[in-house]
Amino acid sequence: APADVLARLAAHRLVPVVVVDDAHDADALGSALVGGGLPVAEVTFRTAAAPDAIRALRARGDVLVGAGTVLTAAQVDQAVAAGADYVVSPGTSRAVVERCAEHGVLALPGAVTASEVQAALELGVTTVKFFPAGTSGGAAAIAALAAPFGGVRFVPTGGVGPANLAEYLALPAVAAVGGSWMVPRDLVRAGDVTGVRALVADAVALAATLRP
Ligand code: 3PG
Repeated sequence: APADVLARLAAHRLVPVVVVDDAHDADALGSALVGGGLPVAEVTFRTAAAPDAIRALRARGDVLVGAGTVLTAAQVDQAVAAGADYVVSPGTSRAVVERCAEHGVLALPGAVTASEVQAALELGVTTVKFFPAGTSGGAAAIAALAAPFGGVRFVPTGGVGPANLAEYLALPAVAAVGGSWMVPRDLVRAGDVTGVRALVADAVALAATLRP
């Protein structure tokens, strides 16, 4: 159920955002994520491999798998058919959010302004992706939005890394933080399980030092 998926994302506090060029790389990616202590992946619909990569990660049974960069209702259908546990969009689209609701799948649409947050709220969404976080005011902007929108939680993504992770995780309104820094596209493509696992483990260790 959507609430359970949200709770699991919030428990992990970190969401690796990955571009998979070849679905055959997905299993090794899953091993690196699980081995690094962060069994979560947001597989972006920026490559044709996305649905099969989601399918392969889901087949493992040990990774929470989201579909990212979902722009259309048709892509929601593809993501859900592949087994995605949740669906992320860079912005807020009524068509995408409504199709997710029809499937009973958590939608995490993007919102970075007060108007966008209100639009999300009108669609029944109370946790939004704050994207692109770095160029949209960063942690200060989230703190400012959290004042009027007390019930809204944010998943800042875009321009987040080890250097600024603390600013975001310090905010009570932040449910989790997303980013690609722990799953570099070239390492995933190279099948470098050891390299990805080390980056993932570093991120998990850093987040653990930032417990609120
Ligand atoms: C996303 O789709 O969430 C972003 O591309 C991730 O942003 P980052 O690469 O700056 O972490």
